[in-house]
Amino acid sequence: MNGAYDIPLSGRKIGIFGKGGSGKSTCTVLMANALRKRGYQVCVLDADSTNIGMPQALGVDNPPQNLIDYFGGMVFRGGAVTCPVDDPTRLKGAVIDLKRLDARYLRRNEAGIVLLAAGKMGRHGPGEGCDGPLSKIARDIEIDDADESPPVVLEDFKAGFEDSARGVVTGLDWAVVVLDPTTASIQMAVNMKRVVRQIKAGELPATAHLDRPELVEAAHQRYTEARIKGVLFVLNKISDEASERYLREALAREGISPLGVIREDRSISAAWLRGEPLDMDSQNEMGQLIIMGIEAAERACKLSS
Ligand SMILES: Nc1ncnc2c1ncn2[C@@H]1O[C@H](COP(=O)(O)OP(=O)(O)OP(=O)(O)O)[C@@H](O)[C@H]1O
Ligand SMILES: [Mg+2]
Repeated sequence: MNGAYDIPLSGRKIGIFGKGGSGKSTCTVLMANALRKRGYQVCVLDADSTNIGMPQALGVDNPPQNLIDYFGGMVFRGGAVTCPVDDPTRLKGAVIDLKRLDARYLRRNEAGIVLLAAGKMGRHGPGEGCDGPLSKIARDIEIDDADESPPVVLEDFKAGFEDSARGVVTGLDWAVVVLDPTTASIQMAVNMKRVVRQIKAGELPATAHLDRPELVEAAHQRYTEARIKGVLFVLNKISDEASERYLREALAREGISPLGVIREDRSISAAWLRGEPLDMDSQNEMGQLIIMGIEAAERACKLSS
């Protein structure tokens, strides 16, 4: 065990959300690098059921095998992993020790960042249900490491609000919303802030579709036991002062103050275009600022509890 055990985000699960193309995956890579530089063990869970770019962005040539296979496949073909909306019960075997996990399911890049992948819908057949089982993996997975401090887990979600509506937020410590300069992003930020506030206030999920009392009970339990501490915000693709000011003012009216601003950077779009590793060195200071902001929020939570 190293000194990182005492640093505040060790063992925390952070989900990255935002509208399509806002920069969730870019911000995930930036945060992963910044965390690593601060001495954390870092594990990225690719929880986007569609997009395929995360391995290359992290400099991993050969993607890991999907965890949906590890957990026994999707329910729609008789597998073990159910959809969290129909079946809110906890995923079996969700605590994974990286030292014991079969190497097929895990990749480690040059910086030592671990990459896991929930699964991709593209390889499933027509009529194969939905990606709910992948949300369940993201909601329930807990990553441990027998020989090291517990990693910070960064979950890179697909675009939009569906994963949140399925309850993934209940399994996170922090949600980070990435905003590009659009009205849709502002709305997404406001919605996430409201949902996290409702969960923290003890609001229970919709269960009218559940016919068994034990499933209703399980759904309620997920929400009453939710450990989410808050939602934080990062601006991305900012190219000029006027749009930054507009965004900041619109967010301030909603009581939102972003942790940091990632500028529009052609080297970022070029790396995504070519499927090359994202070299975030030029953004390292911003990455550090964002992580320090999350650490400060974590410390503030500890003090107030
Ligand atoms: N700071 C930036 N500067 C320039 N281009 C950027 C920046 N961030 C993201 N991009 C561009 O926007 C595209 C989307 O970025 P990214 O894949 O990180 O977003 P996302 O929210 O994960 O998208 P998706 O919803 O498809 O998962 C990238 O392909 C890249 O071209
Ligand atoms: Mg993405």
